[in-house]
Amino acid sequence: PSATIGLTGLAVMGRNLARNIARHGHAIAVHNRTTARTTSLLEEHGDEGADSGGRLIGTESLEEFVAAIEKPRVVLVMVKAGEGTDAVIDDLVPLLEEGDIVVDCGNAHFTDTIRRTEQLEAHGLHFVGTGVSGGEEGALNGPSIMVGGSDRAYERLGPIMESIAAHVDGEPCCAHVGEGGAGHFVKMVHNGIEYADMQLIAESYDLLRSVAGLEPAAIADVFEEWNKGELESFLIQMTADVLRHTDAGGHPFVDVVQDAAEQKGTGRWTVQSALDLGVPITGIAEATFARSLSGHTAQRAAARTMFSTSPDEQRVEVDRDTFVDQVRAALYASKVVAYAQGFDQVAAGAEEHGWDVDLGQVAKIWRDGCIIRARFLGRITEAYTDEPDLTTLLTTPFFAEAVQDGVDAWREVVATAARAGVPVPAFGSSLSYFDGLRRERLPAALIQALRDNFGAHTYQRVDRPGTFHTAWAGDLSESEQ
Ligand code: 6PG
Repeated sequence: PSATIGLTGLAVMGRNLARNIARHGHAIAVHNRTTARTTSLLEEHGDEGADSGGRLIGTESLEEFVAAIEKPRVVLVMVKAGEGTDAVIDDLVPLLEEGDIVVDCGNAHFTDTIRRTEQLEAHGLHFVGTGVSGGEEGALNGPSIMVGGSDRAYERLGPIMESIAAHVDGEPCCAHVGEGGAGHFVKMVHNGIEYADMQLIAESYDLLRSVAGLEPAAIADVFEEWNKGELESFLIQMTADVLRHTDAGGHPFVDVVQDAAEQKGTGRWTVQSALDLGVPITGIAEATFARSLSGHTAQRAAARTMFSTSPDEQRVEVDRDTFVDQVRAALYASKVVAYAQGFDQVAAGAEEHGWDVDLGQVAKIWRDGCIIRARFLGRITEAYTDEPDLTTLLTTPFFAEAVQDGVDAWREVVATAARAGVPVPAFGSSLSYFDGLRRERLPAALIQALRDNFGAHTYQRVDRPGTFHTAWAGDLSESEQ
């Protein structure tokens, strides 16, 4: 065998990952169900890696592919998540030998990864669910890689993946984040945060356009400026680029795109998992529902007909420069909340599934390569390094100050949006989350009282321990349960 690793599934992510691996000095066997893709990869990039001693080795059948890889084999699978992954695994398993490692680099649901890990372990094989973020460009030039599975598998796989990942200050944006399904769980939450980030950016744009009256090109300048400060990130810069773009007819690109946001499912999974774990990830949830609302075109048309108002009717006077800066502050504070919630979910998932996840390390490998790469992730790493069992990121000195500094502007933006009739579900829910946490008393007490009244669900008292019930339908006496 002449390859140190193999990759099957040569759609664009697979192709780029394979080329990246070859460029880093590894001989990689490549395979695709239909050979045409393998042939075209070899035709177009057959000399990839020549400078570094790496190369692409084209194979036609799965048998030839497996035979080309050194043992214990590392086989990367880069196919569309779902049944496709199971089909490839079923074909591969009979060809593999004890100790071989199958690495699923797709956006798999972590519960599928847990199931597949058990399935392959029964055959003496390792299964490694791995999150790869960064899109096509990242796959080729340095993604962020979140590896799950066993320590043993990471010993063989890790050095290769670390070599192809993005690097910050010489450190790879790749790590073994935890056992079993941890890699895909962390990638899922990454995508959930990606949804929240984009929704917050979209709400900011909407406010700058609808309330401050700025045109897309001017908003692009605002984002460009924001990208020089604490908000510096891949998505903020990309927003500036997109808002500056015009189509062939000279129209702002953002005006010619249908306003119905699609999703492949990872945001939805994040919310479903959060509901199961009981973690309030309100920013991610609202971002996911906002996409869903945008796609309900019939309901939107009906509501527009019934409730439409002219922009003038809801015109809110603002001082433009002040408002732009308030939106910046609201965006930053809401973003801090969304990340704090996402990290809470990773912590809860790790606890539930018995994975040993280092949250500071997760923030560290998101600093570059991935879609949510951002300057402030370094601060999250610092916060978890100082205090690994942190209760919430929000109260660490750096983030507490950020939120405290922005809170007045945040309230002003949410109130202005409400008056202007501009929907800000992510801004609004993040602010409510913050207020919910910091409130001395919550109206949850009333909910408990109501539950006890209609369903004898009992309650606890503030002044003494125990579980109580009031005889609401009787003499209103209280009894300890
Ligand atoms: C990444 C992205 C990537 C993909 C999203 C798109 O980290 O590189 O998250 O995985 O672009 O899954 O997701 P939606 O289609 O659900 O928006």
